[in-house]
Amino acid sequence: MEVKIGSSVLELVQGDITEQDTGAIVNAANRALLGGGGVDGAIHRAAGPELLDECRTLGGCDTGDAVITRGYKLKARYVIHTVGPVYRGANPSTERLLESAYRRSLEVARAKGIRSLAFPSISTGAYGYPLEEAAPVALRTVIKFLRAHPEIERVRFVLYSPADLRAFEKALG
Ligand code: APR
Repeated sequence: MEVKIGSSVLELVQGDITEQDTGAIVNAANRALLGGGGVDGAIHRAAGPELLDECRTLGGCDTGDAVITRGYKLKARYVIHTVGPVYRGANPSTERLLESAYRRSLEVARAKGIRSLAFPSISTGAYGYPLEEAAPVALRTVIKFLRAHPEIERVRFVLYSPADLRAFEKALG
């Protein structure tokens, strides 16, 4: 599924974030930035050990913030590492942190002149954020940013399972 937001394109696809050829891919990391399971583990495996070496120099990342590294063996030139909130029930501050993880990733991309990026669904795996609650927050935040910043030409959400893709499609609809 693909929609135009001003002159930019917002895409929803099923797939593996590590295979994307966008300028940057976004990692759903943790505050230590030293790797983990899920998307984080897959990105570190695909990028190779130099990614961890660079991450070690960064001193971590706060929840809701984002930092950038090179992509090493990935097709994407950069990885933007963001830290989503751990879900402990619906509440406004958790939602604001999820919003912030998306927005800061986009701001970091824009500051580097990156024109296309791919996001996984942040916080909806190990961090337990229900997909049906997270998808509208993710989409709303990205759409708002693209309206204000057409220099980001393409944002692709790469959803891992057909059910995840359907939840995002429903939210976009
Ligand atoms: N490509 C795209 N999406 C993926 C991939 C992949 N290769 N692998 C997993 N996913 C999906 C999961 O199905 C889930 O919907 O990404 C979503 C996010 O799940 P997690 O990777 O568990 O991320 P998150 O919930 O933000 O938890 C972060 O997990 O491993 C750690 O170091 C990471 O501690 C941090 C925590």
